[in-house]
Amino acid sequence: MASSERTPDALDTSVAHIARVYDYLLGGKDHFEADRAAGEAMLRAYPDIANAMRSNRQFLARTVRYLTEDEGIRQFLDIGTGIPTANNTHEVAQSIAPDCRVVYVDRDPAVLMHARALLTSAPEGVTDYIEADLRDPQAILDHAATVLDFSAPIALLLVAILHFVPNEDQPYEVVTTLLDALPPGSFFTLSHPGSDVDADASKAARSFNDRAAEQVTLRSRDDVMRFFHGLDLVEPGLVQVQDWRPTTPPLAASGTSMWAGVARKP
Ligand SMILES: C[S@@+](CC[C@H](N)C(=O)[O-])C[C@H]1O[C@@H](n2cnc3c(N)ncnc32)[C@H](O)[C@@H]1O
Repeated sequence: MASSERTPDALDTSVAHIARVYDYLLGGKDHFEADRAAGEAMLRAYPDIANAMRSNRQFLARTVRYLTEDEGIRQFLDIGTGIPTANNTHEVAQSIAPDCRVVYVDRDPAVLMHARALLTSAPEGVTDYIEADLRDPQAILDHAATVLDFSAPIALLLVAILHFVPNEDQPYEVVTTLLDALPPGSFFTLSHPGSDVDADASKAARSFNDRAAEQVTLRSRDDVMRFFHGLDLVEPGLVQVQDWRPTTPPLAASGTSMWAGVARKP
């Protein structure tokens, strides 16, 4: 097991941060007053939001299972990890293939504080944690290359994170930089809240933006599709998270308002 665990420099509890708001909405324990207030405001705007987030977690687990079991992927770069909860990427992957290697990346010190839970690799595999910002993809690649073999296929996971990269921070260029570094046969898993699915999701995003350190940018299905440029989407294509190869009935009565897809780099 490789470890990059450090004591976080600063944990700002005066304003809501998405890692902790997400933890609150998922029923976790790692949140402060400002996070709970933002979470409650989002629930008022979008009563089904907790189910939407749980559906997103289920999508993540299903795709990791699919990539490991059906596509033989053994390496994962999971950026925007979040505070550890059930079915973290390495737990799902290593339950199928214990030799899987997983690099986690997040910029939030609250996630770093829990990195120990992400570093419980099976002895045959490796997990590592990098504190870094998605908007600096080269720094992520440089560190990941010390753990992952970039001559063998890697699955890049950007699950519920790209909406925190506004257009002025070049989200499409960031994704291209990451994908260009991966060899053919690699995979890209993305989920992203839509601007064109459910009006309540837009209200929840506005309510979050009023209270939080980060700002959310919702995107249309067409704009989310552009992230897959040059890749081959696997079936069923770009759909809502609950419709991507479901194995259980949908949790959210009104759908989840999040676009999701998995694609192969040719
Ligand atoms: C909604 S959570 C998603 C967690 C997990 N991927 C999931 O889908 O269950 C978003 C995570 O992305 C992280 N994040 C947001 N913007 C980021 C950035 N620019 N660089 C690195 N991490 C970021 C947040 O700190 C948070 O932990």
